[in-house]
Amino acid sequence: MSEVPQPPQRRRAQTSTRDLERYASLFAERTTVMRSSAMRDLMAITARPEVISLAGGLPDTSTFPPQTFAAQMTRIAQESAAEALQYGPTEGFEETKDCILEVMAAEGMLPDPEDIIVTTGGQQAIDLVCKTLVDPGDVVICEAPTYPGAVPVFCSYQADVIQIECDEDGMRIDELEALLEKLRGEGRRPKFIYSVPTFQNPAGVTMSLERRRRLVELARMHELLVVEDNPYGLLRYGGEALPPLYQLDGGDFVIYIGTFSKILSPGIRLGWAVAPPPVMEKIVLGKQAADLCTSTLTQYFVREYFAEGRWRSYVEDLVEIYRARRDTMLAALEEHFPAEATWTEPHGGLFIWATLPEYIDTGDLLAKALRADVAFVPGQAAYVGERGHNSMRLNFSGVDEDEIREGIRRIGKVIADQVDLYGALTGEQRLPPRAPAAPDPGADVLPFRKVSEG
Ligand SMILES: Cc1ncc(COP(=O)(O)O)c(C=O)c1O
Repeated sequence: MSEVPQPPQRRRAQTSTRDLERYASLFAERTTVMRSSAMRDLMAITARPEVISLAGGLPDTSTFPPQTFAAQMTRIAQESAAEALQYGPTEGFEETKDCILEVMAAEGMLPDPEDIIVTTGGQQAIDLVCKTLVDPGDVVICEAPTYPGAVPVFCSYQADVIQIECDEDGMRIDELEALLEKLRGEGRRPKFIYSVPTFQNPAGVTMSLERRRRLVELARMHELLVVEDNPYGLLRYGGEALPPLYQLDGGDFVIYIGTFSKILSPGIRLGWAVAPPPVMEKIVLGKQAADLCTSTLTQYFVREYFAEGRWRSYVEDLVEIYRARRDTMLAALEEHFPAEATWTEPHGGLFIWATLPEYIDTGDLLAKALRADVAFVPGQAAYVGERGHNSMRLNFSGVDEDEIREGIRRIGKVIADQVDLYGALTGEQRLPPRAPAAPDPGADVLPFRKVSEG
């Protein structure tokens, strides 16, 4: 009698100690310093529909008209199905680069298309820059706080990350100068300085023109590379546009990273890097090894979308929506956060950075906030070391205004409980929430307590 074939069994999820040992001995050295992205972890938890997540950096993709999406995909299917389903060049299609040129021109930049590579999101561009430039132990300089998604990349390339304090005018260039001198004395040359100068993730601050000029000058003087990561430049809700570092430098010492994620869709995973030709040559080799090429299908989608000529009006719509959400969040913070807290008032981007009293640990606070069905990113995710324990990143683009108000109210409640507990233990009185103040249209930020103090 022949045996009845058994359906394949799903592999059990648990791993025994024996398995762990067997695999651990195979792991590369770098895995010991790899760390998880705080936002990725949180996204798994906040997927529960009852949780109001102010944690992600999610643009509101529900604002993109589904009919437009359907019409473009249909056109691609009807007119270029075979090409759209095929591999493409590692550097990306010329037509995608034309779209990138339009986006960069909107901020005053005019790169040579030959210097551009289309990547799988800006995140891959950060990874490829590190792959190209960083050996274990090399110095990488970035802001404090820095983009939380860059931290795991720097760590996985075993960089020696040095963070320079930020204030309301962005990275402290005087501190950078002092650091560069010190490193020179030690015979160490940083591989690059990573900065998000415009509407920074996570702090929401913008580097002043004077500091931008000085940074570019320093890069030239010391022959150092600056990596300018600029996903948010076009999401401006007030104030004057400042020239990107790439524009000020002309592209000799600035590697520029851009993305369609925040002005169109993160789901299409399309970003880009612009680099001087010798650097680009290596980046292209790194990209070949990583994934051969960026999705042809989504490049075709962007091409169709830009051909319609409405991308700028969609960005204008997003600006209106996010400006209102930012204002709602700022008003809710005034109402619900204790007077001991400070936060930034960004003129663009997607984030507000709040600093709480020294004795509050936002990692612990997050556990309590999740029990109240609300999430934020604890400040520590934006540091390589132990700093940032009493700060948090709050996103205002991913949920609507009612949810923002309710989310901030819930976080305010868990903070108030902590403050009361501290008061009961120490006998200190809690200050009432501050009275709403008229926003100062000239200021880029509200008081941003320097991280060195916190
Ligand atoms: C500063 C910064 N860089 C890079 C990225 C990665 O974006 P993506 O890979 O979706 O282009 C983000 C996303 O939030 C970001 O804020």
